[in-house]
Amino acid sequence: MRQKLVAGNWKMHGSQRLVTDLLNKLLNQQPLSAKVLVFPPYPYLSQATKLLAGSFIGVGAQDCSQAEEGAYTSEVSAAMLADLGVSHVLLGHSERRQYHAETDTQVLEKAKRALAANLIPVVCVGETLAEREAGATAEVVLRQLTTLLDDLSLDELKKVVVAYEPVWAIGTGLTATPEQAQEVHALLRAAVAKVDKDLAASMLFLYGGSMKPDNAASLLEMPDIDGGLIGGASLDADQFLAIRKAAE
Ligand code: 13P
Repeated sequence: MRQKLVAGNWKMHGSQRLVTDLLNKLLNQQPLSAKVLVFPPYPYLSQATKLLAGSFIGVGAQDCSQAEEGAYTSEVSAAMLADLGVSHVLLGHSERRQYHAETDTQVLEKAKRALAANLIPVVCVGETLAEREAGATAEVVLRQLTTLLDDLSLDELKKVVVAYEPVWAIGTGLTATPEQAQEVHALLRAAVAKVDKDLAASMLFLYGGSMKPDNAASLLEMPDIDGGLIGGASLDADQFLAIRKAAE
C-alpha cells in the first residue's frame, strides 16, 4: 500500500508573512495518513524548515543546480538545500523546461546531484496541448521518464517520486479527467515495471494540473494516482487542507 502524498508547489508566490500564516494553519491540523510537503521559493526555505522542524510537514525546493558547487552565479546546490533541512526537490517542472529550456539530460544530472545530497527528487513529466493533440502524449512522457530509468541505479530509483503534470492543465483551470490521468499514470508505472516490478509497485506517481478541492477526490481515488502536486490551491490553507482530506 503506497502512502498518499499531497504537495504544494508555491511557484514564485509568497512572502515571510504568508509562510508564517499558511504554515501555522497547516500545523494546527492533526497529522493524517497522507504525507504533506510544501515547496516554497528559495528565500523562504530556511523560514519554512525552522517552522516545520519535527512536524508532519516536509519542505522541498523548486529546483537545484546540476553542478556540485563553483562559479555558477545565482544557482543553488543540492547540498545547500540539504544543509537547510530540505528533504525534497522538484526537478524538470514544465515551467523550467518551457522558460529555461531545461532538457531531459539536465533533469537527470540534477536528479543525480539531488540523490547524492540525500534529497528526494520529485521529477515532473508531461505533454503540451499540441503534443496531446498530435497523439504524442505517451511518447513524450515515456521519453522524459526513460532518461532516468536508463541511467539511475535501482537503489537511486527507489527514492524518486514522479509527478505527471499535463502542461495544458497547469494553471489553466483545465484538469485531466481522472481517466485521462490514470491512463498516463498506468503507462508510466508499466514502464517502471519493465525495470523492476517491486519498484513499480512502490513508486509514487503524483498528478498535477489544476487540482482543486472539487476534483481532487475523483483523481486521487484512481488506482495509480498516489497524490497531488498542487499549485494555485496550495496557497490557500483551506483549499490545500480540503485536498489533503480528499487524499484520505
Ligand atoms: P496548478 O495547480 O496551479 O495548475 O499548478 C500545477 C503545478 O504546476 C504544480 O507543480
